[in-house]
Amino acid sequence: MAVPIWNESFSVKVKRCDEDHKKLLDIIQRLHDSVIARHGEIDTKAILAELVDYTETHFKTEEGMLEQTKFPGLERHCQQHETFKAKLEELKQSMEYAPGDTPMAILQYLKNWLVRHIKMVDCQYSAHLNANGIH
Ligand code: FEO
Repeated sequence: MAVPIWNESFSVKVKRCDEDHKKLLDIIQRLHDSVIARHGEIDTKAILAELVDYTETHFKTEEGMLEQTKFPGLERHCQQHETFKAKLEELKQSMEYAPGDTPMAILQYLKNWLVRHIKMVDCQYSAHLNANGIH
């Protein structure tokens, strides 16, 4: 499962969000590599915890910007974030109850979700935030 490295095609034209997206893609790649290389439960769980934390931080930041600028699609956007968080929680639970048996299907889902979300959903706020002075 190759996770794409961030490039300009992922840009949402808001620096802080681009930086966050780079980091999230990187963490998912590291999580995947750790599972494949069987680096051990402790390492893998640490990376997963990093993903959970950073996801929370990023979603809060992004939603804050959208709320502050009264983005019309805010509610739908937040619902999408909740879907990702629920799936992430599912992954966390699976790894908790069956360490060493990481469900790759969920990991794949998270990667696909993130790529699609950045390119097809996040990019919808670019013009709106830029017009409100957020770049
Ligand atoms: Fe960048 Fe909507 O997450």
